[in-house]
Amino acid sequence: MIKMLRALACALLMSPVALPAAHADGPNSAADTAPSQRRIAFGDDAKHTMLVAWQTRKAVDAPVVEYGVGAKLTLSAPARRSSYAYETGAIWEAALTGLTPGTVYTYRVGDPVGGFSEPASFRTAPDKPEDFTFTAFGDQGSTPAAEMNMTNVLIDRPAFHLLPGDLSYANGVHSRWDDYLQLNEPLTREVPFMAVPGNHENEKLPGGKRPIGYAAFLARYALPGAESYYVFDYGRARFVGVDTVHLEQKEQQAWLEETLAGARRDPKVKWLIVFQHYPLYGSTRGRGDNGELIKLQQPLFDRYKVDLVICGHDHVYERQYPMRGGKAVSASLTDYRQGEGTLYVIAGGGGISLYDFVPKKPAVCAVRERAYSRLRVRVPVEGPLVAEALRLDGSLIEKFEIRPAR
Ligand SMILES: [Fe+2]
Repeated sequence: MIKMLRALACALLMSPVALPAAHADGPNSAADTAPSQRRIAFGDDAKHTMLVAWQTRKAVDAPVVEYGVGAKLTLSAPARRSSYAYETGAIWEAALTGLTPGTVYTYRVGDPVGGFSEPASFRTAPDKPEDFTFTAFGDQGSTPAAEMNMTNVLIDRPAFHLLPGDLSYANGVHSRWDDYLQLNEPLTREVPFMAVPGNHENEKLPGGKRPIGYAAFLARYALPGAESYYVFDYGRARFVGVDTVHLEQKEQQAWLEETLAGARRDPKVKWLIVFQHYPLYGSTRGRGDNGELIKLQQPLFDRYKVDLVICGHDHVYERQYPMRGGKAVSASLTDYRQGEGTLYVIAGGGGISLYDFVPKKPAVCAVRERAYSRLRVRVPVEGPLVAEALRLDGSLIEKFEIRPAR
């Protein structure tokens, strides 16, 4: 009997039927080298540089992005491996440089032996200012609401999406990063995904206290500047991404002040928009205003007349009246004049969960709603900036406008 079983096992191992199954899970299978989790982001110069990152289960020999204008992939950029101690595969990053502004490129990622992804496309920032739309939400996770919010953004086809912190909620379980990145891939392979870290990117290993910081975030995303904080221009708007988890760092504080001052010295910059995780003002239960952050940032945002500050962290939609010196400077619910005050928005309804508000709405709060939502902002060359907060079903929470000063 044993002999018979041995013979049967041997026959199965030797049989042509057994081979493909073993091969599929073997070290050189197509599944091991198939690219997944594509994400793109502008480089330091959004007109000329795009950063592309992806993952394979196992390492490949010649990772590359093949790209070109239209359907012809005549150009290539080699990728380098990006690693961290708890990675779940091989992460690849490539910088596509010398691109033509305002141009649609097609690209694919992969390896000549290991295989390539399907093609996808992206558009570089325009040379001359043009009307554009961008979207934002933070605190996303991998829930059904997160997926629906991502799909809604994809339908909007924004020039780029801002993610003001708290992305995967991996919390040290690194396979959750894979789930999150794969869920978002339909969006992130075509729409530059401009993320800054939140407190959930500052990870610890599960079940323990061992901190690993931003290791996963920094390794898995290719972003401009210092990656955890950076600046980029699109049209006549300047976007400043701030790492509020480490705002005590003097280097970043000096950078933030110089970046805001530089924006206001630059005649090309019409709109100045900050995005970051922690909000200064808010009215969710157990949170409220962040006194430390108000002390650090409000004088800067006042001095340099920041137009819009987009935050997350509180899992709601909440927006203050225009603020100066910690006070609301307009009583209008919808129409504002650029320069009268800074508009603070919490777009924390990305999908992971929702928070409750304290019952009494603070005097400085214009609109608040406990809803999964996205912020969609239209920035025209002429005329007012128009911001809309939209629920998952597409209905409007609110719409407000900022008339330009010049
Ligand atoms: Fe948070």
